[in-house]
Amino acid sequence: MPRKVVKSKYFFEHDFIETVGEVSTLKFPDWGKNDTLKYVGKPVSRSDGYDKVSGTAVYTFDVSLPRMAHAKILGSSVPNARIKKIDIERAKALTGVVAIYTHENCPQKKWFYDTTFLFDPHVRCEGDEVAVVVAETEKIAEQAICLINVEYQEEKFVTTSSQALNDNTPKVHDFGNILRGKPDVNSRGNVEEGFKQSDIIFEDTFTTQIVVHNMTEVMCSVVNWEGNKLTVWDSTQGVFSVRDAVARSLGIPESNVRVIKKYMGGGFGAKLEAGKYTVIAALMSQEIGRPIKITLDRKQMNLIAGNRPDSIQKYKAGLKKDGTLFAFTLEAKAAVGAYPDGGNCSGPFRGIYKCANLSSTEYNVLINAGRSRAFRAPGHVQGTFGLESFMDELAEKVGLDPLEFRLKNYSDVDPNSGRPYTSKFLKEAYQKGADAIGWYTKRKAPGSDQGYLKHGIGMATQIWGGSGGPPAYAILKLNRDGSAILLVGSQDLGTGTYTYPAQITAEVLEIPIGKIQVTLGDTDVVPYGPGSGGSTTTASISPAVRDAAEQMKNKLISGAAAILELPEEQLYYKEGVVQSKSVPEKKATIREIMQKMRETVLVTTGARNANPSGYAINSFGAQFAEVEVNTETGKVRVIKVVAAHDIGRVLNPKTMNNQFHGGIMQGLGFALMEERILDDATGKVLNTNLHTYKVPTIKDVPEIEIIIVSDGDNLISNTGVKGMGEPAIVPTAGAIANAVYNAIGVRIKSLPITPDKILNALYVNKS
Ligand code: MOS
Repeated sequence: MPRKVVKSKYFFEHDFIETVGEVSTLKFPDWGKNDTLKYVGKPVSRSDGYDKVSGTAVYTFDVSLPRMAHAKILGSSVPNARIKKIDIERAKALTGVVAIYTHENCPQKKWFYDTTFLFDPHVRCEGDEVAVVVAETEKIAEQAICLINVEYQEEKFVTTSSQALNDNTPKVHDFGNILRGKPDVNSRGNVEEGFKQSDIIFEDTFTTQIVVHNMTEVMCSVVNWEGNKLTVWDSTQGVFSVRDAVARSLGIPESNVRVIKKYMGGGFGAKLEAGKYTVIAALMSQEIGRPIKITLDRKQMNLIAGNRPDSIQKYKAGLKKDGTLFAFTLEAKAAVGAYPDGGNCSGPFRGIYKCANLSSTEYNVLINAGRSRAFRAPGHVQGTFGLESFMDELAEKVGLDPLEFRLKNYSDVDPNSGRPYTSKFLKEAYQKGADAIGWYTKRKAPGSDQGYLKHGIGMATQIWGGSGGPPAYAILKLNRDGSAILLVGSQDLGTGTYTYPAQITAEVLEIPIGKIQVTLGDTDVVPYGPGSGGSTTTASISPAVRDAAEQMKNKLISGAAAILELPEEQLYYKEGVVQSKSVPEKKATIREIMQKMRETVLVTTGARNANPSGYAINSFGAQFAEVEVNTETGKVRVIKVVAAHDIGRVLNPKTMNNQFHGGIMQGLGFALMEERILDDATGKVLNTNLHTYKVPTIKDVPEIEIIIVSDGDNLISNTGVKGMGEPAIVPTAGAIANAVYNAIGVRIKSLPITPDKILNALYVNKS
């Protein structure tokens, strides 16, 4: 198989990562536009759809094994404390309780930063694991949790980034309250000189709140030991990352851990790595000799499963009179919780616009609350709100239409590296999006509507990574009857990963899509593939699938050549038959070829190609929102969102639409209503359920129009796909905020834009 190991770059979350990976070097003909294709680009219904809507899909929580026991976690009730004493006697005495682990009796394993433990006697946020009870039923485990008495030696705690940066505040970890001990700085050009040479200088500050992922499916594992082999069913975005972390933590070979995930109800970044709960359950299962199911409840999901950190974004821009951005700085602070992933929000600031002199300084600040974690376009969602609100203000300062101002500072190359893009159709997205929302026809001057219902139109730009990259593999197993099984190195987040590999295989082998079955999410069965994150999955694995299918076609042609005793060049492949170009009766079907080859199953392995060197690969887009603001109640209603994006080739418009609808609604929630509320006085979260933490419902859904301005990007890969799961959410809040400004003529600079903020801005703090 034509393979080599090469260096390749790809964008994951907010950084480019250089990898050395095994890649395929095979080249295949360009597919051209989607309308010339039969299966790819067509609105195929997702193959997992029926199972999901009929309730027959087996999620992790549905896995039930003989003799299975149930585990529940007791979390800390205080934000910062040393555990003085845990009394588990009453809980142990409860009928049906099988085992209890605390820091006193659990085999201790290092966890975050290698300085904390699975059960740490120092709890640093509400919800931190204090004990786990295993019982005959989930109910009994819950009852037992209530019977555990914990004595805490409470300590002072911090709840905000400003407070945590103060020298006299308690330290969340020994290393201090700033992740990595110092801010992250990125710059280009000479900012000081840039400001000196600017005609207009303007500053402003924008803030965003902490929001939680709220995926439908809570975190859950089922663990089972058979001898020294551990099987883990887990609701995860990365079966291999869970396998490796569990094996490492338990000190057993990776081959002794099998991780399975068939279906899941969302992850949004919170399920990229193994959770403590899985390792704890594995240890307890080994001790009691029974399988265990461990489930977090909704409150625990809200407290410890991850969140999008908040942000304080301070922008300063220097402009030339004609509107050219000439100097630009951002200072950002994010409260990232007690065991953070980071919250850098400068990606859009550094990546979208041409600006010669630019610098960002970002503080990831630890506080005594649940950790931040990757959350659908981490950093870019909050950063785009701040940047694109500020861009609107700047446009007004220099007297340009917001769209014109953005075009004025448009960058044809990656402003950080100076490299050309493999493709960039942002101008087309601006144009088509503007037309669809009525930018030039319906949009009025800010706050110019008469009456109490005021309409506004706003827009925001989006940039994200898009390349994906190696390593990614697919194994294709073709049967004599022309049916096939595809083992794909991935797992399905719910985004459609079961469906498009079949479309690609059907396209190449010209066999009905229903004859192809896709297997994902089983570390003992599928080839390696990375976690489903960073919008990289489809861009990474779709070319590997095509690679496997094209090789299969070549294998059939070469088999037929041997059987028909004709050179391969004289043969062609069509719909499962290899035929001579000149003598039509000389032909062989898949069955005939395989019978002669004496193989019941033909196997090929496909791999992803390397990304082209010397280029930047990004996805782009713009969203336009139309809102109606009721200036008597302060309520914002989003009427319409137009999403115009450059995402390379669309493999399946149906599943793509799903992602845009979901992303836009998640962005709308972030813009208008969602907020995790942490009480400064107690360090506790006040809204840990879906009643008090408001997410959008069906009644909030606006009209959504999706416009794709790109075809396959042939420089990237043989499928030309760029990622799109995260781009869908990135510009929504900025577009809505700018539309609100356009409606009422007063800018709300802090999310969420709740009615109180609107009314205050209109009637109290009128600026
Ligand atoms: Mo995502 S936040 O890379 O799952």
